Amino acid sequence: METKQTVVIVDLSGRCNQLIARSVRNLNVYCQLVGDNAKIEDIKKVNPIGIILTGESEGEKAIEAEVKTIGVPVLDIRDIDVESKQGVKTLKAFLYKTCKAKGDWTMKAFTEAMVAELKEKIGDKKVLCALSGGVDSAVCAALIHKANKDCLTCVFVDHGLMRKGEPEQVVDVFGNKLGMNLIHIDASERFLTKLEGVNDPERKRKIIGEEFIRVFEEEAKKIGAVDFLVQGTIYPDIIESGIGSKGLVKSHHNVGGLPDVIDFKEILEPVKDLFKDEVRKVGIEIGLPLEQVNRQPFPGPGLGVRCIGAITRERLAILKDADFIMREEIAKAGWDTKIWQYFAVITDMKSVGVRNEVRSYEYTVALRAIHSIDAMSAQFVHLPFEILETISRRITTEVVGVNRVVYDITSKPPATIEWE
Ligand code: XMP
Repeated sequence: METKQTVVIVDLSGRCNQLIARSVRNLNVYCQLVGDNAKIEDIKKVNPIGIILTGESEGEKAIEAEVKTIGVPVLDIRDIDVESKQGVKTLKAFLYKTCKAKGDWTMKAFTEAMVAELKEKIGDKKVLCALSGGVDSAVCAALIHKANKDCLTCVFVDHGLMRKGEPEQVVDVFGNKLGMNLIHIDASERFLTKLEGVNDPERKRKIIGEEFIRVFEEEAKKIGAVDFLVQGTIYPDIIESGIGSKGLVKSHHNVGGLPDVIDFKEILEPVKDLFKDEVRKVGIEIGLPLEQVNRQPFPGPGLGVRCIGAITRERLAILKDADFIMREEIAKAGWDTKIWQYFAVITDMKSVGVRNEVRSYEYTVALRAIHSIDAMSAQFVHLPFEILETISRRITTEVVGVNRVVYDITSKPPATIEWE
C-alpha cells in the first residue's frame, strides 16, 4: 500500500476541506489531509510528491513557511475554485506536470493491494465482522473474504427495523451468493419488546444501540476470542473527528462502541482511507451487487426513527409496506439514481377519511426525498407530481390503515433529514 504516490493537503483554516481532497483523488492521485497544527516531521515521513495549501488562512501560520522547506512542489490553492473548469486544470497541471504524478490511485489498484495486505496481516487468524447491510461494512467484509474466506465470521443482528426485503437480501447476498460464514440473528421480537411504549426519540435510539451491542456481544461470546474486529470506518469519519486546531466536527462513530465489550486483539479498518464514493467503487471492483453498493444512507436505528412515537408492530408493518411501494415507484420512474435519500415515515396521527362510502379514521404517511452531498444540509426533491400521485394512490389502496399521504417539503436546516 505504501508504494503509492501521496500529495499532502495542508488545511490552513483548521477546518476540514474534503472537497479539494476529493478533487485530487478524482484525478487518480492519493492525498492525505492534515490540519494547520500538523508537524512538519509527520508530513516528511509520508514522502509526498507535492503539497497543497488550502483554507482561509487566518494570519501567518508557521506551517505555511515550513512546508516550503521540504523541497517538494507547493501549490497555494486558496484563491482557486477547484470545482471550476480552470480549477481542475490548475490542479491537474500541478499534479501531473509539476509533481510528475503517475496517476496510480485507482480503486482497482487499491483493491488488489488491500487484499494482499489483509492476506499477509490476517494469515489464518480469526476475524469478526458486524454486518449491517450498509455499504461500508459490506465492502470491508468482501475484502477480508477475498483475502482469506475461512478466517471470517460475519454476524448480522436483525433488529426488525430494516426495510422490507432487506434482511432476506443480506442473507442471500452474503450467505448464499458470496458464501460467507454468516450468522443471522433474528432479534426483532427482542428489540420490539424493549421498545414497547417508548415515545422519546433519543430514548428509542439509545435502546436500539444498547440492545444491538448486547445481542452482538452474546453472539461474539459463543464464537470466543477473535484476533481482529472489523470496523467500517471511512476517511470522512477520521477527518470529522478533528484534524486541525478547530478540532472535532462530530465524533467518530464506532459501531455503537463495540470494541469495549468484545474480546479481540486488534481493529481492522480496511476502508479508513477512502471517501464514500471510493468505497462504492471498491464494492463494484470486488463484485458486490450494485443494489448493495449503491444503497442509500440508512440510519443505524433503522425504521425505528421513521415510526414516530412509540413503535407498534401494526404501524411498523404499515411503514414497511408504504416504504416498499415508494421505493418501487421511484425506481420504476428512474428517479432512484437521481435522489440521495428517500423514504416513508409513519406519523402517529390519525385523521378522518372516507373509504367505500364509509367513514375511516386512519394513519397519515409522510414521504420524504432529499438531495444532499454530505448530509450536513439537504434540499427536498422536486419530485414530479405524477410520481407522488401514483405512490399516494398505491399506498392508500394497498396498505390497510392509511387514508392520507403527505409530502415533506422542508429542507435541512431547519428540519433534519430523519423525522426523529
Ligand atoms: P439527520 O436526520 O441528522 O440525518 O439530518 C443525517 C443523515 O444521517 C442518517 N442518520 C443516521 N445514521 N445512525 C446512522 O448511522 C443514526 O443514528 C442516524 N441518524 C440519522 C440519516 O439517514 C441521514 O442520511
